[in-house]
Amino acid sequence: MRPQIIALLGSPLTEGNTAKLLKKAVSGAESAGCDVRVIHVPELELTACREFYFCKDHETCMMEDDVSGLYPAFREMDSMIIATPVMTMGIPGHLKSFMDRFQVFYCAKYVRKKRLVSKEKRAVRRTLLLSISGMNLPENFDGVTLSVKSFCDILDCRYDDELFIRDMDNKVDLDRFPDLLDAAYQKGFRLGGLLTGKYCN
Ligand SMILES: Cc1cc2nc3c(=O)[nH]c(=O)nc-3n(C[C@H](O)[C@H](O)[C@H](O)COP(=O)(O)O)c2cc1C
Repeated sequence: MRPQIIALLGSPLTEGNTAKLLKKAVSGAESAGCDVRVIHVPELELTACREFYFCKDHETCMMEDDVSGLYPAFREMDSMIIATPVMTMGIPGHLKSFMDRFQVFYCAKYVRKKRLVSKEKRAVRRTLLLSISGMNLPENFDGVTLSVKSFCDILDCRYDDELFIRDMDNKVDLDRFPDLLDAAYQKGFRLGGLLTGKYCN
């Protein structure tokens, strides 16, 4: 079976600049020999964490929705791509609520000390973060990066690589910047190739 990568799109726009960047990274990972499952997070039916803490004693959430149905895939995935715009200096609300629901993995790892991810998977899985901001400020990606790094730790999917694009309000359309789209392709190829042996560090 080919390595499985999950790609999260945090933008509500499926044809926007973040989506374009993700499409290139997915294409790179597929060229490297991986299967990529793209999840458009804003379309998921999900409830934000209500702190019932059912997950302190169980390997799932007591709220059954699109997120709970995805837990097995997140246990089994071999790597992950997260593509998100910056909103209010952080992650868009729907994607953040999605991430918060992975308290299920946090409790298993840190409360019960019984991780949901196997040793074999932990050894290989990595995360690539792609992010775009409208403004051009030094701290543009600080909020996104902090949350994503925490999410990666909870999921035992090492934060490994990143591509940040600033000043999108002036760049307007990524199709005018083929070098940036190619950079996303290369990052995706690297992520996938590290799993298939087509890319060596
Ligand atoms: C609600 C909202 C909040 C935003 N907040 C920020 C921000 O805090 N900093 C920033 O640099 N850009 C901000 N932006 C701009 C987006 O990051 C930028 O337009 C990005 O290119 C959107 O990507 P997309 O079109 O692929 O969704 C915001 C955009 C929206 C819609």
